[in-house]
Amino acid sequence: MTHTPGTTNQPTTVLITGGNKGLGYEAARRLGDLGWRVLLAARDEQRGREAVDRLTADGADVIFVPMDVTSDASVASAVTAVSQIADRLDVLINNAGITGEQVGPLDQLIGPADTLPEHLGSVFAVNVLGPVRVTHAFLPLLRAAGDPRVVMVSSGAGSLTIASERVRPEASVAHLMYPTSKAALNMLTLQYANGIPDVRFNLADPGFTATDLNHHQGTQTVTEGSDAIVELAAASPGPTGQFRGRGGSVPW
Ligand SMILES: NC(=O)c1ccc[n+]([C@@H]2O[C@H](COP(=O)([O-])OP(=O)(O)OC[C@H]3O[C@@H](n4cnc5c(N)ncnc54)[C@H](OP(=O)(O)O)[C@@H]3O)[C@@H](O)[C@H]2O)c1
Repeated sequence: MTHTPGTTNQPTTVLITGGNKGLGYEAARRLGDLGWRVLLAARDEQRGREAVDRLTADGADVIFVPMDVTSDASVASAVTAVSQIADRLDVLINNAGITGEQVGPLDQLIGPADTLPEHLGSVFAVNVLGPVRVTHAFLPLLRAAGDPRVVMVSSGAGSLTIASERVRPEASVAHLMYPTSKAALNMLTLQYANGIPDVRFNLADPGFTATDLNHHQGTQTVTEGSDAIVELAAASPGPTGQFRGRGGSVPW
């Protein structure tokens, strides 16, 4: 079991949003394997509990926390639940995310000319406002930890540099919703890192990974895709204000 230096014998504790499947689930599995206490948050009770049951069957210390990142009430209840389990939170992984497929299939996502404010709104509600809501709510518990850190799960699709190069695959398909939400998340994270120096804030770019998000068209495994998330979560001491993929720094 891994303990945070300078603290009691409570294990290193991580909360992962959208932990019931895909990259969040794989990060939960890997951090559980390190001996961490994993608070697996999911918006759907059944999906969350099934995920926790799979991980605890393998011996990991994993606890289900109901949380819809778009709901103030749900996030407040999650804070109460976590406070009853742990007196601090070492790591928060803001992983929950959507593409905007709610308004069209992935390969025919609504293009810039047809995108309306409400289309953006539904994606920003999860990918941008969600991490702000969750981070704000959990800051007191994070600040009770010795080396608190927040990992924001972003995407190369949010890189202004990559989008402006126009040769990378991420730049080949133009959508307003997902890339702009991740670009906003990148700036949010830098502002958090600059404004809250006692908590470390970093961004992980998983790379194109086979999950439900892209109908398993991604070319990496979830283990490969979760490398940067796990690395940033586990780095202690470590950096703040960085944008990292499994191959190193990602251009802003
Ligand atoms: N896969 C890739 O190639 C790739 C590349 C770059 C970045 N990313 C990012 O990686 C993160 C994880 O994506 P993934 O590929 O693992 O996708 P995924 O398999 O579709 O998982 C997304 C997770 O987010 C959850 N979620 C969605 N809306 C939520 C809400 N309102 N409240 C709480 N949870 C919510 C989902 O819950 P339900 O099961 O209940 O829907 C699910 O657990 C996302 O932020 C994504 O943008 C993925």
